Amino acid sequence: MTTTQAAPAIVTGQVLHFTANPFHADPATAAHVDSDGALLIEGGRITATGNAPTLRAAHPQVPVYDYGPKLIVPGFVDAHAHYPQTAMIASWGKRLIDWLNLYTFPEEMRFAHPAYATEIAARYFDLTRAHGTTTICSFCTIHPASVDAFFTQARARRQRVVAGKTCMDRNAPEGLRDTAQSGYDDSKALLDKWHGVDRLSYAITPRFSPTSTPDQMAAMGALWAEHPDCLMQTHLSEQTDEIAWVRDLFPEARDYLDTYESFGLLGGRGLYGHAIHLEPRERDRLREVGAGLVHCPTSNTFIGSGLFDMDGLMREGQRIGLATDTGGGSSFSMLRTMAAAYEIAQLRGRALHPAELMWLATAGSAETLHMGDKIGQLEQGFEADFVVLDLASTPAIAQRSAEAKDIWEAVFPTIMMGDDRAIHAVWIDGSAAN
Ligand code: GUN
Ligand code: ZN
Repeated sequence: MTTTQAAPAIVTGQVLHFTANPFHADPATAAHVDSDGALLIEGGRITATGNAPTLRAAHPQVPVYDYGPKLIVPGFVDAHAHYPQTAMIASWGKRLIDWLNLYTFPEEMRFAHPAYATEIAARYFDLTRAHGTTTICSFCTIHPASVDAFFTQARARRQRVVAGKTCMDRNAPEGLRDTAQSGYDDSKALLDKWHGVDRLSYAITPRFSPTSTPDQMAAMGALWAEHPDCLMQTHLSEQTDEIAWVRDLFPEARDYLDTYESFGLLGGRGLYGHAIHLEPRERDRLREVGAGLVHCPTSNTFIGSGLFDMDGLMREGQRIGLATDTGGGSSFSMLRTMAAAYEIAQLRGRALHPAELMWLATAGSAETLHMGDKIGQLEQGFEADFVVLDLASTPAIAQRSAEAKDIWEAVFPTIMMGDDRAIHAVWIDGSAAN
């Protein structure tokens, strides 16, 4: 498929800009909203930003899309999801290991049929776009066709995504296991086929230590060493039972992270989902290598995993993104995910500022994916993926935002109570996509 370039456009409204990471500066100045802002979009990129009347006067031929008082924010970036779990989201009553065995693995088995993979990938992109998510980093299943389905659907929608074949060669049912060799071979073939095509990137994807033998971990580490520009995604220290199991499976390891580190699976382009119950050594090593930690708050409450230490980890300089972890996470919405991050941080004694929450869901997740120079901000040179938020999308939200004394007080009710009804428009690759 060839990508046709979108026509130039000027988009006006209230525009969110970040000048710094709001966790490391005063949030009220690190993020600001231009109440009469504008973006000039050409060839799928933002080529200028500024004051709406000025930009319009400078480009009188370019069509204008005026969103008035609505808030234009970067498209949401979901840094950890499992698209194959779309149809089993909100499955009742289990904690991680039982939840995997009872609900997740049987559903992932259905992806042996490529037509089913295509159906769910299409459904997943329709749902996530309706919720304002423009970039996703997803696990697939062990089936190569599940990766083909995801990338094919993303490419047709011109979306920037990351994905990889989930590798498992033990502690998973027959039909959902590969081997160290076939996991390596299939991953390599998929990487060669998709990595760098249009807006697609491949991530080497060992599911987590309990479902890979040391041989498979070593094979994944070797593949990553051969392709150091790829991301590597996995899970780390999500639940205490899981950590105890890892200790039994890898008696030589110093801790959970060491089961990755000792096989070449720790690095700056590594993405470690959950990272809740970390030892001091693990925190030190993750920070030293500049790894990406991915906070999945609706999953952590839904599966009962624990309370991520956002404040402490940010203070010590970790790189942190935000994610739904669909379908361990209970929502496709990054707004709902921001709300859950707020609630978890509150339970740990820290109230996250709305600017911090917005940053996590956009620029922060983009930086975690090493795409912070391409997406996640509405600045000149960035790719034109953005969302237009209605800050009065329901009667409950409207009556609260009407009382707001400043922009952040107007945004916060949408963060806490908003869903897909708050997504007025989604632009992907410089074109309106809904
Ligand atoms: N750990 C290993 N696999 C999974 C998964 O699919 N979801 C979650 N939440 N944790 C995992
Ligand atoms: Zn996950």
